[in-house]
Amino acid sequence: MIKNNVIVSPSILSADFANLEKEICKVEQAGADWIHVDVMDGHFVPNITIGIPVVKSLRKVTQLPLDVHLMIENPEKYVKDFADAGADIITFHYEAVDIENIKSLIDVIKSFGVKAGMSIKPKTHPDKVLPFLNDLDLLLVMTVEPGFGGQKFMEDCAEKIKFLKPCSPENLIIQVDGGINDTTAKICKEYGANSLVAGNYIYKSDDIKKAIELLRA
Ligand code: DX5
Ligand code: ZN
Repeated sequence: MIKNNVIVSPSILSADFANLEKEICKVEQAGADWIHVDVMDGHFVPNITIGIPVVKSLRKVTQLPLDVHLMIENPEKYVKDFADAGADIITFHYEAVDIENIKSLIDVIKSFGVKAGMSIKPKTHPDKVLPFLNDLDLLLVMTVEPGFGGQKFMEDCAEKIKFLKPCSPENLIIQVDGGINDTTAKICKEYGANSLVAGNYIYKSDDIKKAIELLRA
């Protein structure tokens, strides 16, 4: 059950990669709703992280939904592999797909029984996503430039939600990612976000349970 109607999705980018099972158990026991998995290819973003085999392994150690954030070029080539590996939500980037192929990519993701998400980078105008709001399960509004954890929250990015929320169907999940802590989470929730990704704030906290509660509060 999602408490307080806010979905908290800790990003394992800030976890200890040598002990991922333990790190996931830790946030699961502390009340996390989803596990956010940041996939980077060194092309769409200047960093390289993890991919399909890791998602497959994580699937065996947690019951929580795996929220896979694809920061990669040509996401259409890989969505089936991520779905087969056990992803529950697959979010691709608007900027990584030709506009005429977006609708069919959303349909393909959904055809695997997976939630379809689309993300926009800080410089992308919110207008661009309007044609897709009724098809998507999740819209991810990046509040930092994708690529690295631990960056500073950009409030003007979160403000896009103020514009998008009234145009969105009731059941669209609006997620934010980047620089989220107890203070910035409040701002995002006021604008209408109902899913919060947090890496550093959760994993660097001395009291993870409290950190997750504060995000929901
Ligand atoms: C950044 C990733 C984020 C990252 C967030 O490109 O998409 O999910 O882990 O990290 P924090 O919460 O530390 O900003
Ligand atoms: Zn992310």
